[in-house]
Amino acid sequence: MIMKNVLVTGGCGFIGSNFIRYLMEETDFAGRIVNVDKLTYAGNPENLQGISENYPDRYVFHKADICDADLMRKIFYDYDVDAVCHFAAESHVDRSIRRPGGFIHTNILGTFNLLEIARKKRDTVSLFHHVSTDEVYGSLGEEGLFTEETPYRPNSPYSASKAASDHLVRAYHETYGVPTLITNCSNNYGPYQFPEKLIPLMILNAKEGKPLPVYGDGRNIRDWLYVKDHCEAIWTVIQSGSRGETYNIGGASEMENIAVVNMICDILDEILPPAQGQGRRSLITFVKDRPGHDRRYAIDFTKVQDELKWFPRESFSTGIRKTIDWYLRNGTWVENIRSGEYQAWIAEHYG
Ligand code: NAD
Ligand code: DAU
Repeated sequence: MIMKNVLVTGGCGFIGSNFIRYLMEETDFAGRIVNVDKLTYAGNPENLQGISENYPDRYVFHKADICDADLMRKIFYDYDVDAVCHFAAESHVDRSIRRPGGFIHTNILGTFNLLEIARKKRDTVSLFHHVSTDEVYGSLGEEGLFTEETPYRPNSPYSASKAASDHLVRAYHETYGVPTLITNCSNNYGPYQFPEKLIPLMILNAKEGKPLPVYGDGRNIRDWLYVKDHCEAIWTVIQSGSRGETYNIGGASEMENIAVVNMICDILDEILPPAQGQGRRSLITFVKDRPGHDRRYAIDFTKVQDELKWFPRESFSTGIRKTIDWYLRNGTWVENIRSGEYQAWIAEHYG
């Protein structure tokens, strides 16, 4: 499909920024990207360094809230948006447990606003892609995989808000014929992930000799996908997926949290041998469990594999080395994103 003006929401976040880079640098996409991001604590314009300079005619950024319906409408019409790739969300489960309100607002109301505009601009908007999560399906026991037919059973305010937004997207296809796509993906990791999530948090704490807080018994299982593989999957689905359909995306890399943390410790010990000779596994600290902590996620992604010929390129062992290497080489990015100065800089540059 030819897309001339793609609205990417949340393009300054972890996956959104990787997706914009991927689209611009590694595909034959020739249109313009209109990136709309509220720049919350998780949104960082530095993630897109070089993009506006290298693609001045094909990249536009607006600091804007997807919950601001009037502003969103103006952006759609000003740029004649013909496709939407919707990443913007509050994304961290622990934060949703402490303060659910923002999740309900952005993830549900924000998605509703965008769908309403897409519905009214139905003659020109030829795609609404919702980037969603496997967490909508709830938790698995020791056996089985999430398929596209698995009933929704979200357990956290975050996953419930994503489930609600998925349902709205589906309803706008069924009721109004909006040409939608939903992808439900497993846990991503890789460059530019905010260091509140398991993998970057553990890399940085282990590097700095700080405690590594593992929730509960550490035996919860996630299926890990390198972020660039996710970006490639999204692009594949946009190009060839059937409108109105849902596609599960996974990494074929199920691991217990404790195994992930051990691996990070061992790789860091290899690259930066610990001064006192005591390996970084000694920093692991079992802490109180997350309330409602889903035990296991695992994805059946046969549909995207068989129908669209997508398969993840990275294994966990190749992807985690690339990720550790990236965090070690990008100390300034880490310092900036952790500092209050960074928030002040955003206020000064983007108002
Ligand atoms: P992130 O938290 O790193 O980035 C979210 C981005 O959205 C930030 O740039 C933030 O500023 C922006 N944003 C938040 N509220 C906004 C609002 N009201 N208006 C405009 N912009 C707003 O999240 P991520 O990990 O990159 O996740 C992106 C999307 O992918 C989310 O929808 C998430 O549910 C989904 N997802 C994430 C994962 C994962 O493992 N990280 C896996 C599957 C699906
Ligand atoms: O499955 C996809 C989802 O993956 C996305 O939809 C979410 O946006 C994304 O944040 C992620 O959710 P998780 O809750 O699985 O990710 P998180 O990195 O927060 O935690 C991964 C696992 O590690 C989980 O079992 C909780 C555990 N954990 C996490 C942190 C931050 C710890 O044991 N210690 C920690 O300090």
